[in-house]
Amino acid sequence: MNLIEVKNLSFSYIKEEIVLKNVSINFGVGSIAIIGQNGSGKTTFVKLLKGLLKPTEGDIFINGKNTKDTTAAKLAREIGMVFQNPNDQIFKNRVIDEVMFGPVNTGQNLQEAQENSLKALEMVDMLDKENENPYDLSLSERKLITIASILAMNTGIVIFDEPTIAQDYHGKNRLKKIIEELVSSGKLVITITHDMDFVAETSKRVVVLNQGEVLLDGDTKYVFSKSDILKTAYLEPPSITQFCSMLGYGKAFLSVEEFIRYRSAKESI
Ligand SMILES: Nc1ncnc2c1ncn2[C@@H]1O[C@H](COP(=O)(O)OP(=O)(O)OP(=O)(O)O)[C@@H](O)[C@H]1O
Ligand SMILES: [Mg+2]
Repeated sequence: MNLIEVKNLSFSYIKEEIVLKNVSINFGVGSIAIIGQNGSGKTTFVKLLKGLLKPTEGDIFINGKNTKDTTAAKLAREIGMVFQNPNDQIFKNRVIDEVMFGPVNTGQNLQEAQENSLKALEMVDMLDKENENPYDLSLSERKLITIASILAMNTGIVIFDEPTIAQDYHGKNRLKKIIEELVSSGKLVITITHDMDFVAETSKRVVVLNQGEVLLDGDTKYVFSKSDILKTAYLEPPSITQFCSMLGYGKAFLSVEEFIRYRSAKESI
């Protein structure tokens, strides 16, 4: 079932400067990554999905509703988005108030909102910051607070715009677990990132945007095996995929573990 249907979408901020060109694409449940060089239109695309911008041409349907016929506020019950820059999202002076704002304003009662907010803070390992001022936290912590705010809303569609910004190894692992949990609870997760290793480990499907057009769309292994096409969009496959390709392996590996399993199986023959 498609939760999102995009039909012949074009978008311009300024007349004559087309940012997205005739994009048609559908998304069902699961984990999807959107990749592309700076300025390729990734953030613009997800802002359109969220209803914050309206198509110049074409239509976007979220759970069957045309974004042109509804408001971003109404869509917020169905689609949550963690902004690229946490400072664009945070506006409260206490972490718990920040996290509870979304749930309360999308129809959860106070008790439900509080329970979901505490659970979300626990998921991002920030429960001990409940009473702090978000502005006193580091960039990586502020990013985690904005992630918790969206998780607490419990929407069926969750969009992460550059979630790995400022995250160390543990932070990235926590994010991977969160994406896995969201997917296993039947949600659609769309992640925009420049971190190809993170894409390989978290996404089943990858969409490559290049100058506002879909250049590649498919299974992660398929997309990362197309290194020549990726190069035209100034992108590189994950390090492990490149490493194995340099060693002469014909297939695309997405993780060190996968490569080791493959080698061990070969050696045992
Ligand atoms: N508010 C705006 N007004 C005018 N032009 C904009 C605006 N926001 C983005 N653009 C332009 O639209 C194009 C696509 O920008 P967008 O932010 O969607 O790219 P992106 O793929 O998210 O890039 P990045 O990887 O740097 O985040 C760029 O040329 C950008 O300069
Ligand atoms: Mg962006």
